[in-house]
Amino acid sequence: MTSLFSKAQLGRYSAQHRIVLAPMTRIRANRATLAPTPLTATYYAQRATPGGLLITEATHISPEATPIWTIYPKVRKSGDHVPGIWTQLQTDAWRQVTDAVHAKGGLIFCQLLHTGRVAQPEIGTHPIVQGTDAPLPPISASAMPIVASAEVGNQYNWDDTAVPPRAATQADIQRIIADYQQAARNALAAGFDGIELHAAHGYLIDQFLCDGVNQRTDSYGGTLANRCRFLFEVVAALVAVMGADRVGVRLSPLALNPATGLQTQTYFGVTCSDPVAIQTSAIQGLNQFRLAYLLLTEPRVGGLSAAPDQETAYTHPLRNTQYRDLYQGTLIGAGGFTPATAADAVAAGHYDLIAFGRWFLANPDLPTRIKHGYPLNVYQRDTFYGGNAAGYTDYPTWENRHQSAYPHMHQHQLRASLQTAKPSEKISSKGPQANTKKD
Ligand SMILES: Cc1cc2nc3c(=O)[nH]c(=O)nc-3n(C[C@H](O)[C@H](O)[C@H](O)COP(=O)(O)O)c2cc1C
Repeated sequence: MTSLFSKAQLGRYSAQHRIVLAPMTRIRANRATLAPTPLTATYYAQRATPGGLLITEATHISPEATPIWTIYPKVRKSGDHVPGIWTQLQTDAWRQVTDAVHAKGGLIFCQLLHTGRVAQPEIGTHPIVQGTDAPLPPISASAMPIVASAEVGNQYNWDDTAVPPRAATQADIQRIIADYQQAARNALAAGFDGIELHAAHGYLIDQFLCDGVNQRTDSYGGTLANRCRFLFEVVAALVAVMGADRVGVRLSPLALNPATGLQTQTYFGVTCSDPVAIQTSAIQGLNQFRLAYLLLTEPRVGGLSAAPDQETAYTHPLRNTQYRDLYQGTLIGAGGFTPATAADAVAAGHYDLIAFGRWFLANPDLPTRIKHGYPLNVYQRDTFYGGNAAGYTDYPTWENRHQSAYPHMHQHQLRASLQTAKPSEKISSKGPQANTKKD
């Protein structure tokens, strides 16, 4: 049986264990430069282990790609921001992060993101964008606005002020591919070991994959192959810069509730009439590249506001197991894993590595805690996005637990069980959205 503490191949790298830091937006970039700060370097270095993979927060490839997180009232008020990787200054600042991680023997991939219709034109008023001729958001596969459904509106405070996107022309598509390539070159210059293409969670590439948003009639819309075209072109462009063995991709298959036929979640209101067919095409098509890895988000319905010991996602069955046999390379799973279910999922062969989000955010020494069964710091949701060192770099290691007031809980207190979806529960029909999710 494969253990979390055995080696795994990640393209040209050999991971020394199978516990990965999932990409997590923390909205703590320098507000003037949209670059990571010294605190960012501390945060990632704290989580670095020899031969352990860290994936950065979503890092934006251009002003057009960059969201201003006005959906979070707290962040809107503070002016906190997400980082980019399109300027020299940003690139140089990322070098401090990669140096700090490498000093501890860690591996770090930069997650590259274009948010498509989620970004808003307000970014044009930012001093580093003002006066430049950078195209402004929002842009998408088609001119389909985010529908302010009850769920979207309530959960994310998304409202009618969201500007509808313009449909990308073929020239826009070529320009965006060039932006991805430049971001990849910058990532190399910044010393990253690789990049991860964020093709999940309702952002630009997902907007091309899913026909609720992609209504194009040209070679980028309609058939499954056409809707995958943009993804594959971006991957090919990134591979040309980095080499395939330094490129990862993230996808987020959707799930439907077998009882209702409704999508159990949407990301920013993105719907799809054929979620299994499109993900199958995308996953199969990615085989041609022989990438470092594919990261799949498990479509569990997470209790976004639930306390950890009440979290229902930890008991939801895995649903991506149906894709395992389609993909020939290294597969990373993310979403609702506990130390116990991560170990079970790897031992059962469902995934090769597991990316932890919230538990790694709150436990800088997560691999050590998992190895020894130490209790976990409990994550504090109110400091996930924006702010300063609190909830960012001040979570203690187990050794230093007495220096902090953060509560901790025993690993066995997490209600967790690893199940896989029964055949009858597998995704088989179409349906509109129910809940919404982001990140
Ligand atoms: C604060 C926060 C920010 C996140 N930001 C991103 C992101 O920038 N990119 C991404 O692909 N996923 C993002 N996610 C999703 C995580 O990568 C991960 O899939 C999610 O936390 C579920 O895993 P968990 O149950 O281990 O927390 C974010 C999650 C959280 C909690």
